[in-house]
Amino acid sequence: MKFILLAIIGLTVAARTVCAGCPICGGGNSTLVDQVEQVKDLSVSWLAAQQNIDGSWPSLNTQNAILGLQLADPSWFTGHVPEERLLTTSTLEYELMQYLLSWRTSGDPIGQLGISAGRLGQYMLAMQSVCISVDDFYENRLQVVMNRLLRRKDTFTNFFAYSFSILSLCSGNFTIYKRSLLKLVHGTDRRHPCSTQFDVDPGHNIDILSLEVMAMVCARDQAIQQGIRRWDRVLSARVQCIIDGQSDDGSFGNAITTSLAVQALTAAEASQSTWNCVDAVEFLLTQQTNGDFGGVASTSQIIPFLNCNNFGSLREISETCSQLPPPMPSRPVPTVIEPGDDTVTFDIEVRANGDVESYQVTILNGENLYFGMIRLADLNNDFTFESSGSAFGESIDAINGVSDDSVNSLYWTIHIGQEGTFAPKGIEGLFPSDDEVYIFILTDFS
Ligand SMILES: *[C@@H]1O[C@H](CO)[C@@H](O)[C@H](O)[C@H]1NC(C)=O
Ligand SMILES: *[C@@H]1O[C@H](CO)[C@@H](O)[C@H](O)[C@H]1NC(C)=O
Repeated sequence: MKFILLAIIGLTVAARTVCAGCPICGGGNSTLVDQVEQVKDLSVSWLAAQQNIDGSWPSLNTQNAILGLQLADPSWFTGHVPEERLLTTSTLEYELMQYLLSWRTSGDPIGQLGISAGRLGQYMLAMQSVCISVDDFYENRLQVVMNRLLRRKDTFTNFFAYSFSILSLCSGNFTIYKRSLLKLVHGTDRRHPCSTQFDVDPGHNIDILSLEVMAMVCARDQAIQQGIRRWDRVLSARVQCIIDGQSDDGSFGNAITTSLAVQALTAAEASQSTWNCVDAVEFLLTQQTNGDFGGVASTSQIIPFLNCNNFGSLREISETCSQLPPPMPSRPVPTVIEPGDDTVTFDIEVRANGDVESYQVTILNGENLYFGMIRLADLNNDFTFESSGSAFGESIDAINGVSDDSVNSLYWTIHIGQEGTFAPKGIEGLFPSDDEVYIFILTDFS
């Protein structure tokens, strides 16, 4: 028995690694999987390229873009250098903090609370997607804030936003009050699970139903645990209403509506025989140009389907958080130099405040000056340095305890061979050769 189980697991793993991309529409159609994979690459690149120089995305879409990117490609964030990750996460945090503070100072804008909570839900989801703690956001426990908002009577009439709020809690495994779950089941009309306040516009109706379905799938364990019996019946009814909305061309409305429907039906694991997944996906693939599905907002909402994900898929994605390298890498550790290695020996000279110190350093051929400094500091207690990463690479902050001094315009400069021959690059871009002398001079720029 054990052996068979192992064999099955082995097969599953093998199948996963062989098959590129997710099992879109069940995965049986490799042409479709390939096409989706291509559009996914285009879309992720397109949306990532819309990030502003300040780290935000246009038209208040920072949180939506980050969430969409991570759901479409969970390796998007980890694929960036620490400086870029920092820019993205701090922009997200900064925007949310502005938002929370404006709430606090403007009192209690009840009229907008529902929408505000939906927005808070989007921020919480985006944070979880890039491994920022929701539980301790500058001493705010956002899940507590959210639960409080959800418990208020008559806060929500918009179940699109409401679903985002529920999703932000269940994605982080946070407890949701029974009353809030019941509200999601009841919707706008208890007797008609598919009714929404936007009945006039069928497309909008499917948008809301799709979000409700994603939220219900995500929160299902909690709902069953809390004894909400109608859960699965209402869920099936809503799934069926979405399926009934599919047109002959495979769409469910516009591109956003169609993608939300595909995401919801995928989340609910609706049987492939009950709806036409391939046509829906093919329709969606025609709705983009070079990965752009009609702007930042719509592309952000649409692209999770390209990775078979939905707004309730974050629990699986957040598992990659533990693999994330630390925000700022510590100094690299050079390999030990063995006898017979191809090495380079050169001199480092340090001039500051009238003192001159000289050191000899040996590095492996091909290593840069930064590695030379690390090797020297490891071997010689008289030499120390501090450096920090920047967008331009590692730069020197202090040598032998003497720091840059911006007040007095004193900065460390690098010279090769003799004073005045300024090095054209930083310590990571300089590759010493035998018998060269690298001179660090604390230089007065005032
Ligand atoms: C597989 O996908 C291709 C490309 O999208 C499509 O033309 C074809 O009809 C699909 N085949 C089936 C059996 O669905
Ligand atoms: C959430 O709960 C599920 C089920 O109890 C568990 O398998 C999963 O690891 C939890 N995820 C997190 C992020 O805590």
